[in-house]
Amino acid sequence: MALAHGLAAQGWRLVIDGRDADALAEAAAGIPHDVTALAGDVTDPAHRAALVEAAHRIGGADLLVNNAGILGPSPQPALADYPLDALREVYEVNVVAPLALTQLALPGLRVHKGAIVNVTSDAAVEGYTGWGGYGSAKAAVEQASRVLAAEEPALRVWWVDPGDLRTRMHQQAFPGEDISDRPEPATVVPAFLRLLADRPPSGRIKLADLFTPADL
Ligand SMILES: NC(=O)c1ccc[n+]([C@@H]2O[C@H](COP(=O)([O-])OP(=O)(O)OC[C@H]3O[C@@H](n4cnc5c(N)ncnc54)[C@H](OP(=O)(O)O)[C@@H]3O)[C@@H](O)[C@H]2O)c1
Repeated sequence: MALAHGLAAQGWRLVIDGRDADALAEAAAGIPHDVTALAGDVTDPAHRAALVEAAHRIGGADLLVNNAGILGPSPQPALADYPLDALREVYEVNVVAPLALTQLALPGLRVHKGAIVNVTSDAAVEGYTGWGGYGSAKAAVEQASRVLAAEEPALRVWWVDPGDLRTRMHQQAFPGEDISDRPEPATVVPAFLRLLADRPPSGRIKLADLFTPADL
């Protein structure tokens, strides 16, 4: 939601979602103008269609941010013991749903020469113990993004690693641990906005590399 606030402050018209209707409504209420909040699950094809339709009604999407994601079981099991149904859910939410949403949004994005942001993680590229389910799903997101970038050269496709952030998911990843030393999500928003303004070529982006002294 920090990114939604940052985008709205720059005049972007937004379509946002989340499964928790109350939390979504509360977040949307804090955004001053032009936000369509649709509660739903990105694994639901009807919900995905409603999101793209809502974007169409305000002129069509020129940016798709695939941010919704889940960690999977907490504490995270070793791959040797990873429950396969849980793994399927992690892949459904983190890999299949963003690709499905991308497929729906692509015709409009092509018209606008738009951009896609797929939120990834260092767990996609590092072999952290216990991160095999979530990490392999994010690795799949990264490779799908790489291929999409080659297939859609008129668009920008960025797979963006935001770094460790103090969120619900991060707390789930470190159950019982004090994560108060991790930065708040709002701290990376300026780097995110810089990415959108600078429009570098498609590729993997570490937001920390886009920080300026003013952000620190
Ligand atoms: N926090 C970190 O340190 C970190 C580091 C690297 C990457 N990331 C990535 O950053 C993104 C955001 O994660 P976060 O840390 O902010 O986690 P979070 O606090 O758990 O937030 C996840 C967001 O995704 C939404 N969501 C989850 N499943 C959904 C579904 N099936 N349909 C629709 N919305 C869904 C949640 O809303 P509802 O619960 O209301 O559905 C919530 O808004 C994820 O892609 C995550 O992998 C996070």
